[in-house]
Amino acid sequence: MRGSGARLLWLLVLSLAWLGPAWGDSEGLEGKEEDGEVVAEEEEEDEEDDVVSDELKEEDSVLVLHEHNFARALSEFRLLLVEFYAPWCGHCQRLAPEFAQAAATLRNGSEAVRLGKVDATAQVGLSTEFGINAYPTLKLFRDGNRTHPLAYTGRMDANGIVRWMQRRAGPSATLLQDTDTAAAFISAQDMVVVGFFKDLKGEAAQAFYEAAGEVVDVAFGVTEADELFEAYGLSVDTVCLFKKFDEERTDFPVDPARGLDAAELTRLLRVHSLELVMEFSNETSSRIFGAKIPHHMLLFLNKSVEEQLALRDDFRKAASNFRGEVLFVVVDVDGYGATVLPFFGLTPADAPTLRFIKMENNRKYQMDEEAFSATAVRDFVQAVLDGKVKPHLLSEEPPEDWDTRPVKVLVGKTFEQVAFDETKNVFVKFYAPWCAHCKEMAAAWEELGERYKDHEDIVIAEIDATANELENITISGYPTLHYFPAGPGRKMIEYRSTRDVETFSKFLENGGTLPEEPPVVSKVPPSLGQGFPSTPGWLQAPARWGMDPALPHSRMGTGCLAILFLPSPSAGDQDPREQHRHRGAESVRHG
Ligand SMILES: *[C@@H]1O[C@H](CO)[C@@H](O)[C@H](O)[C@H]1NC(C)=O
Ligand SMILES: *[C@@H]1O[C@H](CO)[C@@H](O)[C@H](O)[C@H]1NC(C)=O
Ligand SMILES: *[C@@H]1O[C@H](CO)[C@@H](O)[C@H](O)[C@H]1NC(C)=O
Ligand SMILES: *[C@@H]1O[C@H](CO)[C@@H](O)[C@H](O)[C@H]1NC(C)=O
Ligand SMILES: *[C@@H]1O[C@H](CO)[C@@H](O)[C@H](O)[C@H]1NC(C)=O
Repeated sequence: MRGSGARLLWLLVLSLAWLGPAWGDSEGLEGKEEDGEVVAEEEEEDEEDDVVSDELKEEDSVLVLHEHNFARALSEFRLLLVEFYAPWCGHCQRLAPEFAQAAATLRNGSEAVRLGKVDATAQVGLSTEFGINAYPTLKLFRDGNRTHPLAYTGRMDANGIVRWMQRRAGPSATLLQDTDTAAAFISAQDMVVVGFFKDLKGEAAQAFYEAAGEVVDVAFGVTEADELFEAYGLSVDTVCLFKKFDEERTDFPVDPARGLDAAELTRLLRVHSLELVMEFSNETSSRIFGAKIPHHMLLFLNKSVEEQLALRDDFRKAASNFRGEVLFVVVDVDGYGATVLPFFGLTPADAPTLRFIKMENNRKYQMDEEAFSATAVRDFVQAVLDGKVKPHLLSEEPPEDWDTRPVKVLVGKTFEQVAFDETKNVFVKFYAPWCAHCKEMAAAWEELGERYKDHEDIVIAEIDATANELENITISGYPTLHYFPAGPGRKMIEYRSTRDVETFSKFLENGGTLPEEPPVVSKVPPSLGQGFPSTPGWLQAPARWGMDPALPHSRMGTGCLAILFLPSPSAGDQDPREQHRHRGAESVRHG
């Protein structure tokens, strides 16, 4: 999985590296230089047939930005949130009305705040300058600063955008000066965060304000009053989370040596602001997946059945031991939860039932003998965490005609015997039924099957990897093609070249390698926005555990993503959000 993730990133970097020079010809790159504005304008005057104007026009309250008016917009508005979009991108089309609504609201509220949009496929200069590799990408430009925009991290709806912007436009935390106002502030809402700092100008307080800008769904208060430190029993700088449910109050004291890290505080607040047991719904799913807790423990039940509902009590009791490490979620098979059942190989009739899932690789675990007591659930979760439980692998039954067709149909149960048959060279396509890229290559695979159906030692096969899981092979993108050569040693070679019959054949005849060839990505045409499918592949995916609904689209990649969640990299590594972005690459194929 890791290797494959790295490959995706690598492809991305390679593609961009190649595209860079092509885009470099455009005048937009000048903007990168100091005084870019002036340089660009001088050049523009030379171009006679171009209509050049820095006039700011609006469409549905959203500024329409391009290379000629971008600098002017930056100079006129203190906070400018810019959406870089592609006209063909489905996510962008869905965002448009929400973005326009947010723009109208914010425009009304302040002269200094505006929303703008850039067609990144037409404005190649701007797109290159700001390193746009996913659609939509939203960036916030503050105080006219062109070189250090802030990545947008809020929700992709009108309310979410408004709140996120307001947090940055005004004070992000309410100043609390005495016990009465503090008590009133805390009791006014279900959940508030209060920062107690001896020095509001210090670094810890600044990090706190930064976190307040990220966790926009929760009210933030801040104080430096001695009176308040005393009233809440504190002696050192501390961030307190007050809730009207579960633990009621959680303290995060600031380590005097390490200080306060805004990203870490944001993560802690996200984790601890979740209810101990979350109910899975369309409203909670972004919080469930957004908290990026590495494991989920799920209780599937039918909420219309009284006895099943009662199981939640013990489930909750077990949950408190694993706060932050395992998120406990109740899934109603009669409601929104029905959409994720196939992903677990379940039907509504299986409820009540428990599943543990590791988000990093989608491995699922279940009890041998199901028991719902708090002790049983706690022991089971602990056993999985300790590596004492084997994953539960899904498998379909083999279809009757599985080995009479030119392309053999494998399932989990038959995979081992066929793929690792030492007398055969086996070429397997791992696919998802909903993946458009798989459909695109389906005909080529059938043709390959036809071509080799009479070869004794060659088997062309396919397996629906969403319904069949294998112990040691994790599929992170669809389609994935693996070649299992004859002979001992259980070898497996991943095929990474173009997906056409001739190249497949060459690969097979060559014993699982291809003569040195330039990378496929180098054929990407420099003009974007042409020949892209109107419906990107993985959008057709059914709702799935592990799918982050907020993922933007990348224009790179040639497959559908199987795993859309990765554990946060260790400190000092790349921003996990960036990683998600790349992993969540929209499956748009080039060339
Ligand atoms: C803009 O402000 C006016 C007056 O305050 C209000 O009536 C109107 O509904 C606001 N429009 C939006 C889109 O918020
Ligand atoms: C933009 O912001 C960065 C980081 O805050 C700062 O280093 C840089 O000097 C700013 N540039 C301008 C032109 O203000
Ligand atoms: C959740 O679903 C309900 C009912 O289908 C709908 O009214 C609501 O807008 C949805 N909420 C979100 C955040 O999608
Ligand atoms: C849930 O239980 C109710 C009551 O027994 C039943 O009518 C309904 O069909 C069940 N839902 C599902 C999806 O099985
Ligand atoms: C999977 O890998 C483990 C450890 O290398 C090995 O013991 C096991 O036999 C493998 N299972 C299969 C089905 O290949």
